[in-house]
Amino acid sequence: NLTPVITIDGPSGSGKGTIARLVADRLGFRLLDSGALYRLTALAALEREADLTDEATLTEIAAGLDIRFELRDGETAAVLGGRDVSRDIRMEEVSMAASKVAAMPGVRAALLQRQRDFRQPPGLVADGRDMGTTVFPDAPVKVFLTASAEERARRRYEQLREKGVSVSLRDLLEDIRARDARDMNRETSPLAPAEDAVELDSTGVDIDDVLQRVLQLVHERI
Ligand code: C5P
Repeated sequence: NLTPVITIDGPSGSGKGTIARLVADRLGFRLLDSGALYRLTALAALEREADLTDEATLTEIAAGLDIRFELRDGETAAVLGGRDVSRDIRMEEVSMAASKVAAMPGVRAALLQRQRDFRQPPGLVADGRDMGTTVFPDAPVKVFLTASAEERARRRYEQLREKGVSVSLRDLLEDIRARDARDMNRETSPLAPAEDAVELDSTGVDIDDVLQRVLQLVHERI
């Protein structure tokens, strides 16, 4: 497949979702938010009250997901079985469940081809944890975006406050650390930079500067 892919991996809150969207808009490329697939799997499992430790059931749920991503009012909506669940999949409970189901090899295998199907002309920007290592190992541009856990918790805190959700910064920091540990220590596709990835640290850096750096890499390599 000669369609170019730009992979943007990193921990939650590193800004990769924002950067991925900006890069995709700028280049007119498609966007894959792979975390949304794990979140949708988790939401479907929670709604069915499935046992979150039962890999066979969760794999079946992942394989059978009826999902679509639709553009609604300029935003990408996640549609599960015809329902817009964009807000539901961002709930803290779903975030936690997503990182649990994502640790299961069966679930990851069930979602692999779905992710690769997003690779269509003129190109794709793929955001996740293992885009550069497992899903698109031949991508010409790979970015690994990080930021300190404290900064990521603070960003999340501001986002939630703007939405009127009240949470404690300390709880968010704990959640972020727990998810990082789970994402980095799992056996299958752990969160780690690909050997040929360019690592960027967004701590204290303006989002526009990060964007310019990524676009520069794209122009050098594609
Ligand atoms: O990126 P986001 O926070 O939406 O991802 C939700 C969860 O899905 C993460 O905590 C991570 O465990 C998992 N994930 C993954 N591989 C990806 C993308 C997300 O394991 N490529």
